[in-house]
Amino acid sequence: MAVERTLAILKPDCVRKELIGDVLRRIQDAGFTILGLRMTRLSKREAEGFYAVHKGKAFFDELTTFMSSGPCVPVALEKENAIADFRALIGATNPKEAAEGTIRSDFAGSIGENIVHGSDSVANGQVEINYFFDQATLVANEPVG
Ligand code: CMP
Repeated sequence: MAVERTLAILKPDCVRKELIGDVLRRIQDAGFTILGLRMTRLSKREAEGFYAVHKGKAFFDELTTFMSSGPCVPVALEKENAIADFRALIGATNPKEAAEGTIRSDFAGSIGENIVHGSDSVANGQVEINYFFDQATLVANEPVG
């Protein structure tokens, strides 16, 4: 299996509920390597840019208002099969449909406030990682030993 990168965002509800540590623990226990991590508060415009693919959808304003409502934690991750494995770890977008034991099933309140984002393809993962991280810092953060 190929080594892939994915972008996680621990969303404002995750930060407000003080679940950053719990979610990062699960991510690391699942074998993901953290290559980049920071806390930031997105402006409405930045949230609209990140989610541009959803522009025009009924939930776009709600989504971007929520994502700019408080700090979030973008995390660049690497693992074999990272895209599919991360989506399996977090569960379905709607926490009511998320499999038992997944992050969204255990922690999320609604489809809008669903604790964590994960990239849906290798190509989008690269674009999304570049939205938050300088490629050179990720290379510098690769684990040694
Ligand atoms: P995410 O993985 O960050 O990608 C797009 C987000 O849009 C998704 O998680 C949901 O939080 C949000 N979303 C999708 N569908 C709806 C909806 N019907 N109402 C509100 N938010 C939604």
